[in-house]
Amino acid sequence: MLIARTIEDTRQAIATARAHGKSIGFVPTMGFLHDGHLSLIDVARDSGATFIVVSIFVNPRQFGPNEDLSRYPRDEKRDRARLEERDVDVLFLPPVEVMYPPGATTSVSVGAVAKPLEGERRPGHFEGVATVVLKLFNIIQPDVAVFGRKDAQQCAVIDRMVRDLDVPVRLAFGETAREIDGLAMSSRNSYLSDDERKIAPALHRALRAGEDAIQHGIADVPSIEHLMHKMAAETDGITVDYLSVVDPATFEAPGDFRREVLLVGAVRVGKTRLIDNLRVVQKT
Ligand code: PAJ
Repeated sequence: MLIARTIEDTRQAIATARAHGKSIGFVPTMGFLHDGHLSLIDVARDSGATFIVVSIFVNPRQFGPNEDLSRYPRDEKRDRARLEERDVDVLFLPPVEVMYPPGATTSVSVGAVAKPLEGERRPGHFEGVATVVLKLFNIIQPDVAVFGRKDAQQCAVIDRMVRDLDVPVRLAFGETAREIDGLAMSSRNSYLSDDERKIAPALHRALRAGEDAIQHGIADVPSIEHLMHKMAAETDGITVDYLSVVDPATFEAPGDFRREVLLVGAVRVGKTRLIDNLRVVQKT
């Protein structure tokens, strides 16, 4: 595996691979890799990629001033070993100055889909995400890029950006990898104390309660949201930020429960903020 820290080295390795007829698959990450991240490499291969590029870059522009940028978990050595095991071809590990040299001010604003929920609670977050992802796409120029459904609104934002800006990349999405008790894998789970870790699956249980309601024929947003909040309230130590039902493409209220809807949630357990979601298609 080549470790590339500059744009030039990365582009050169990819140009050589292309000259050998390889199809480039790209998985962007912020590191501290878990099995959810690694499963996206498999999705890239299943989507036809024969040369895999993974990036690890803790992107300062997507963190708010009171967020966890400085304490975001990092373990470069372990990440490298895990990627070697998966036969990744290039690990792009740019320093901040490479991604944001002095004077860089352009940013990508995606519009409506980036406004509610995470967008509302984390002002500037999706602008930071869209900007770094477009830069990474321009550096790597992958045939296929893979994102995890765990960050459902991020998937919708990137999808919108790619369509609106005619970015020549195919997107693929990977299912959410979970711990046995339902907790979605996340680098941020490492912040949880043992007691908090026991509380954390309550988010997934709340979403499941919403899914149950839909499968029992409940098709109005307030009732479903009420049931999810009720389920979350059964666990002490969890503070709900939001538990909502949305359309998976627009993140607005769903018009129709016969089409797929998305149950999305964000909670705080101690100082740690966790997000999760479930896609639900009503069984007929
Ligand atoms: P990060 O949180 O490191 O996640 C990298 C990718 O892994 C994202 O596409 C995310 O949705 C996916 N992922 C995280 N947890 C997952 C899980 N449990 N199952 C499946 N996929 C999972 O998301 C980011 O980084 C950044 O915003 C980034 C896109 C790299 C831009 O900076």
